Parts: sequence; C-alpha cells; structure tokens
Amino acid sequence: MKIEISKGKGNRLINPGGVILVSSCYKDKANIITLAWHMPISKDPALLGIAIAKSHLSYELIKKSEEFIVNIPTVDLLKQVVFCGSISGDKIDKFQEAKLTPEKASRLIKTPCIKECIGHIECRLRDIKDIGDHGLFIGEIISASAEEGLFSDTWQVDKTKLIFHLGGGVFTSSSEKIEVK
Ligand SMILES: Cc1cc2nc3c(=O)[nH]c(=O)nc-3n(C[C@H](O)[C@H](O)[C@H](O)COP(=O)(O)O)c2cc1C
Repeated sequence: MKIEISKGKGNRLINPGGVILVSSCYKDKANIITLAWHMPISKDPALLGIAIAKSHLSYELIKKSEEFIVNIPTVDLLKQVVFCGSISGDKIDKFQEAKLTPEKASRLIKTPCIKECIGHIECRLRDIKDIGDHGLFIGEIISASAEEGLFSDTWQVDKTKLIFHLGGGVFTSSSEKIEVK
C-alpha cells in the first residue's frame, strides 16, 4: 500500500539533499542564499548545477558576476541557514545580519566564501538553463577545499553533522558512516 504524494511534493521523495549556502558577489554587493536543490552533473569537466528561483537576488548577482561559491554548513549553523533562506539580500547584508564572515577565496574568484562553513567549492558560471520558474546555473569547479580532519576522500560524517532538508521547516543531519567494501 502506497500513499499518494501531490505533484508539488514529489521532489521530497528524492530529498534529503544536503543543504548548501551559496555566496555570490557583484560589484560591492555580496549575498548568501540557502539551497537544497543542487547536483553534480559532469566529472570531466567538473560541473555542478544549482537551481535558483528567478525572483531571488542571487539569480541576478550570479548571472552578472558569472561566478559563485558553494559553502557547506553544519548543524551548528542551522539558524543562519534558515535565516539566509527566508529573507532576500535585497535590502540587507546577510553576512552581517547572520554573523557569517566573508573570507577571501582563491585568486581566480572575487566572491567571498563563508569562513564558518567546513567546505567550499568555487565555481565559474558556464551556463544558465531556463527551467520553469528556476534557472539551472551550471558551474565549473575552479577549486574546492574542506576542513582538515573532517574530509578524507569523503565527509567524515561520524565527526561532523551535515544538514539535510526534508522539506518545509524539517531537517535532518548525518551521523552514521556506512562503508561497503
Ligand atoms: C532549507 C532551504 C532550502 C532552499 N532551497 C532553495 C533552492 O534550492 N532554490 C531556491 O531558489 N531557493 C531555495 N530556498 C529559498 C531561498 O534560500 C530564499 O528565498 C532566499 O531568501 C533567497 O535569497 P536572495 O533573494 O537573497 O537570493 C531555500 C530555503 C531554505 C530555508
């Protein structure tokens, strides 16, 4: 016996997707958006996709600057994750309001990364696919970094708690590592 899920909530069956904070910057305006919709899409070249609603400020900033950074938060940043995902950076500085620290990324990217996050993927924008009410931003990975001790080939989920979004205001976190030899 299966229960029917509305079309609008169908995507929740393939959640939980790890929650990310994407930083962007155009001219002097830096911003942060919380995203749950993202995916790796090519190994060589290394490409990933993030889906951003056309109405969001981040859509404009990334389109204009042609770069973005995927930052990986842990559960201790959940309050900031919800904040950055509930209010537009239109009129506020989310770095300042959420008490997150902008940190210089590599030489190739002007956008700051978020110091408090445990990992960063710096991306150059390759393309934007117009899909429904979202744009699928395709980024080429320029460089990536992760907190020493927490990443060794994969995230060491027994040592840190990543955030996963189940839908609405419901989240879960990782803790158990299951290895298949
Ligand atoms: C857990 C969570 C996940 C979210 N995932 C997405 C997403 O994948 N794509 C999207 O466009 N918005 C997503 N949002 C909503 C945006 O983060 C939110 O509307 C944000 O305020 C937009 O910021 P901006 O206008 O400053 O760019 C999510 C929000 C939360 C709380």
